[in-house]
Amino acid sequence: MDMMEFLRTRRTYRRFDGRPVPPEVLTEAVDAARMASCGANRQTVRYIIVQSPAAVAAVQPLVHWAAYLPKEQGTPKPGEQPTAFIAVLQDERRPGASDVDVGLALGSLTAAWAHGVGSCIMGAIDRPALTELLAVPEGMHLCYMVALGYPTHESRVVEMRDGDVKYYLDADGNYCVPKRGMDEVLIKTV
Ligand SMILES: Cc1cc2nc3c(=O)[nH]c(=O)nc-3n(C[C@H](O)[C@H](O)[C@H](O)COP(=O)(O)O)c2cc1C
Repeated sequence: MDMMEFLRTRRTYRRFDGRPVPPEVLTEAVDAARMASCGANRQTVRYIIVQSPAAVAAVQPLVHWAAYLPKEQGTPKPGEQPTAFIAVLQDERRPGASDVDVGLALGSLTAAWAHGVGSCIMGAIDRPALTELLAVPEGMHLCYMVALGYPTHESRVVEMRDGDVKYYLDADGNYCVPKRGMDEVLIKTV
């Protein structure tokens, strides 16, 4: 897959086929995130892999899906749910904790798409409950969860109409994700 094809198809996925993501793919995703660029090379981001069926099941009710869609469309039903999560944490005991660094790490985690593993970065999460469930160590802050699995739907970038950023499903249940055009985002070349 060439770079643009990879980036075009590395979208957010929210329905999966139930096959477990191999542990080595999950650890490789964390390894990729570990090598992400970060401010002053401080490396304050930490991870918890959630892969046991019992732990994954316990996480499911604590994450919230697709705010732009009705629940029956956007929330995966039993049998469609992700089979792994990666929790992304900031070690706040170290100086230089940075949201930018977390963002770059998230971007590297979602490169699991190179193995056909789709993902959803999740900020709408029950942080207190997940912090307790995952026994997040003292001094660390849970920033995001990333849901992972083998997608059963497609997701494609579509032209934005009237500045509407809301994604929607087509007649086949595939995601359509409006992105601003190059004419809008590229202000100029000097
Ligand atoms: C910081 C961040 C938080 C997000 N939180 C959620 C979330 O809680 N639930 C969800 O279903 N999707 C979440 N998403 C996925 C976005 O909705 C998705 O990235 C956006 O609609 C664009 O789709 P795309 O990733 O396919 O380009 C989040 C994405 C990011 C980057």
